[in-house]
Amino acid sequence: MQEYDLVLRISPQEIEQRVDQIATRINQDSAGKNLFVIGILKGSWMFCADLIRRLQMPVEIDFVRLASYGMKTETSGEIHITKDVEASIGGRDVLIVEDIVDSGSTLGWYLEYLRKFRPASVKTCALIDKCERRTVEVSLDYVCFRTETGFLVGYGLDYAERHRNLPGIYEVRFLR
Ligand code: IMP
Ligand code: MG
Repeated sequence: MQEYDLVLRISPQEIEQRVDQIATRINQDSAGKNLFVIGILKGSWMFCADLIRRLQMPVEIDFVRLASYGMKTETSGEIHITKDVEASIGGRDVLIVEDIVDSGSTLGWYLEYLRKFRPASVKTCALIDKCERRTVEVSLDYVCFRTETGFLVGYGLDYAERHRNLPGIYEVRFLR
């Protein structure tokens, strides 16, 4: 594997503040609802854990694992479900929690897939909106951070399964 450095981009304190603000907005927007939160594995689990602790309405949580083929820093676009949610989605108010939206193909594909099950409503929440390479337009209701470029790790995000455990978010800088 090519050598690289990690450069801090977002500190644990900044993450905490921002998750707090986003949770406040969700609490206002979805007050009185029973939210069915669907976390997209594996990247969003840490974010999900912090977010749902701040939600004040009744919340049910489940996870879906979406895999795109390959271990690259770019999604191939071909997506499949390797672990589905266990409860039924029909008539539910769904909040999808994703780690990073990059090309948009993963979330775009999943939103399309969910429609078949006729949820009452679907909102999307992303830890990071990486807008530069967007090829599939997806509507993001809640975004913690926006970035143009850079491959990010930490706070659940990985590079080849490494660094998910870091409490802050770092950029991978490849060395020559
Ligand atoms: P998309 O389908 O191109 O939007 O890619 C979304 C998925 O690729 C995310 O759910 C992440 O798992 C992964 N991904 C995209 N960019 C990054 C990154 O900078 N760090 C870690 N994972 C990333
Ligand atoms: Mg992901």
